[in-house]
Amino acid sequence: MNPTCKKRLGAIRLEIMKVVAQEEIAPAIFELVLEGEMVEAMRAGQFLHLRVPDDAHLLRRPISISSIDKANEQCHLIYRIEGAGTAIFSTLSQGDTLDVMGPQGNGFDLSDLDEQSQVLLVGGGIGVPPLLEVAKELYASGVKVVIVLGFATKDAVILEKELAQYGQVFVTTDDGSYGTKGNVSVVIKDLDSQFDAVYSCGAPGMMKYINQTFYDHPRAYLSLESRMACGMGACYACVLKVPESETVSQRVCEDGPVFRTGTVVL
Ligand SMILES: Cc1cc2nc3c(=O)[nH]c(=O)nc-3n(C[C@H](O)[C@H](O)[C@H](O)COP(=O)(O)OP(=O)(O)OC[C@H]3O[C@@H](n4cnc5c(N)ncnc54)[C@H](O)[C@@H]3O)c2cc1C
Ligand code: FES
Repeated sequence: MNPTCKKRLGAIRLEIMKVVAQEEIAPAIFELVLEGEMVEAMRAGQFLHLRVPDDAHLLRRPISISSIDKANEQCHLIYRIEGAGTAIFSTLSQGDTLDVMGPQGNGFDLSDLDEQSQVLLVGGGIGVPPLLEVAKELYASGVKVVIVLGFATKDAVILEKELAQYGQVFVTTDDGSYGTKGNVSVVIKDLDSQFDAVYSCGAPGMMKYINQTFYDHPRAYLSLESRMACGMGACYACVLKVPESETVSQRVCEDGPVFRTGTVVL
């Protein structure tokens, strides 16, 4: 495809985006900055479906949008090397291009929150990045933001300083090498506040904990992952069950990746 070529397949947008920068911000964790017209349409919590620039890998890889800079038509993605696809992404550098489908998914609902509101953000490991744009936008609306981050070890801690610009940050590590020892529940159970909304993204265990703890909360959100193929709602590779239903399911790529607590089976 020509570097400037963009096309729409129904509601699906494809664009060859430009790599502006890439940096390793923690061991095996990279921050990739992309530029293109698609940025104008991006919302917090959506993801991009990236074509691996190697014909041996047919399926695209989903990566969340970490932050959005509409003025400069740039967005930041933060990903960890897991296998061949993400290893190839890590070799990209300034001036390269990437075939991008998106922005995909529903994103977080940040509406109806203001100076009177207090929200809780909970992120774990490589699930922290999409919360950066959430924190930035809520802070800009005057919302009080409390952020609890959980990591395996000190080495894996990312975005603590960036998030601290927007709210009070608590960090936990499983081995106690940084912050409070344990997982995020150790901090959350002692927070003496009522939150108007809860936004979370992390590993399956953390998502189960948030789902249970805030099951009936009217505005508690989970950003979920699943193995994906088409990434556009057609193949049903990414479905989750709905409580008390054998027939209804939800597609992570199209109906999510953000779901309200209590609405899907984890
Ligand atoms: C909506 C969504 C948003 C995501 N956002 C991010 C992000 O911001 N940063 C990030 O680092 N990763 C993110 N992921 C996970 C990322 O898509 C996978 O790590 C990536 O596709 C792995 O590709 P690979 O070719 O490197 O590894 P593969 O060779 O495809 O897989 C390597 C290992 O990773 C596991 N894996 C692959 N895909 C997934 C997946 N979707 N979920 C869980 N495990 C998987 C495989 O089971 C295998 O063990 C997201 C996934 C989804 C569904
Ligand atoms: S990945 Fe095909 S429907 Fe979600």
